[in-house]
Amino acid sequence: MNPPFRQLSVFNLPWPTDWSAVFGSHQPLIIEIGFGLGHYLHYLSRTYPQSNILGLEVANMCLVKAETAIQRGDLPNVRVLYGYAETALRHLIEPDTLSAVYINFPDPWFKLKHRQRRLIQRDTVDALVSRMQPRARLYLATDIFEYAHMSDQVFRATPGLTNTLDAPYVHSLPDRVTTKYEAKAIREGRRCYYFVYERNRQPAPLIPIVQESLMPHIIFTSPLSFQEIATRFTPFDHHHQTLHTHVHNAYYNDQGVLFDVFVSEPTIEQRIAILLVRREDHSDQYVLRLGTIGMPRPTEGVHLAVRGISTWILGLHPDSVIIEDKLREEFL
Ligand SMILES: C[S@@+](CC[C@H](N)C(=O)[O-])C[C@H]1O[C@@H](n2cnc3c(N)ncnc32)[C@H](O)[C@@H]1O
Repeated sequence: MNPPFRQLSVFNLPWPTDWSAVFGSHQPLIIEIGFGLGHYLHYLSRTYPQSNILGLEVANMCLVKAETAIQRGDLPNVRVLYGYAETALRHLIEPDTLSAVYINFPDPWFKLKHRQRRLIQRDTVDALVSRMQPRARLYLATDIFEYAHMSDQVFRATPGLTNTLDAPYVHSLPDRVTTKYEAKAIREGRRCYYFVYERNRQPAPLIPIVQESLMPHIIFTSPLSFQEIATRFTPFDHHHQTLHTHVHNAYYNDQGVLFDVFVSEPTIEQRIAILLVRREDHSDQYVLRLGTIGMPRPTEGVHLAVRGISTWILGLHPDSVIIEDKLREEFL
C-alpha cells in the first residue's frame, strides 16, 4: 500500500498556489466547494478529463475518502484541499483562473445568528467572481427554499454574473448525477433549486491575493523572569479594524513562556502559539516570536497578536527596553 500522501491544506500550500504544479499539468481549473462524499467529484473527473478538478472541504472524513480514491487512481485529475472555501479563494486561488465553480447543497445555517457562516453571501460571491475567468460557470444546487431565495437575491445583485436560465432557478438539470444530500432531499419529497450563472465581461471586484507577512518577532530586555511574566497574565483581547486576537493562556517553564492565542481575520482563523524565549548568544535579551505548533501562517492578525503581547509584557516593568522590532508598525 502506498504511504498516505500529505493532505493539501490552506496552511501548507504557498499563497498563492501554482495549481499547475500541484496537478502536474497545465489545464483549466474547476473547483467544487463542499464535495462531501465526492459523488460529484467522480462525475466531474469523468466528464472533464482535460480539466484539473480541485475539491474544497473541511470535513476530515470526506477528505480521507476522496484522498483514498485519488491514491487508488480513481480520480486522476482531482486533488482535494482542506480549508474553508472563503480562505482558499482569498489566499490560494489567483484572480481570473477558475473555469467553473460547483456548489452542491451548501450547509443552510438556518439560524439568523449563524447567517454569516453561509457560503452564498456578498463577500464570498465577490471573491468567486474575481477568481472566475470570463464565461466560467457557477453552479449552485440547494433543497432549501429560503437559501434559494437568498442566493437569487445575492446573484441578481452581482454585475459580474449573468443568469443562463430563463428563470432564477430550475427544479431539475439534464444529466445531473445525484449527490448524497440531493438523494436525501428527493427521498424526503423536497424540491431542489438549481442555479447556473456565467461570468460576463463586467469588471470583477478587486480582491487581491492575501499574502503572508514576514515572520513577526520583537527583541527586548525586561528585568522580569519568565515566571514573573506568566504569573501576572490574565486573558486579554486585542483588536485592529477587522483583525481580532484573543490571548487565552500563558504557560511557562525555565525555557520560556508559551502564549495560547486565537487569531481571527476576515480571510482566515488560526490558533497559534507565541513564544517568549531567551535570545541565543544574548541571554540577557528576550525574543517574542511565532511558535511552529499547528503550522501557523504569519498573517497580519498574527503580527497584531505578537504586538499585543509585547505591549503587555513591556508595560509590566518601566525598565523594559526594545532592542529590535520586526512587527508591522501600523499596530503600534
Ligand atoms: C450539506 S453538505 C453537502 C455535501 C455534498 N455536496 C452533497 O451534496 O451531498 C455540505 C458540505 O460542505 C462542507 N463545507 C461547509 N462549509 C464549507 C466551506 N466554507 N468550505 C468548504 N467546505 C464546506 C461540509 O463539510 C459538508 O461536507
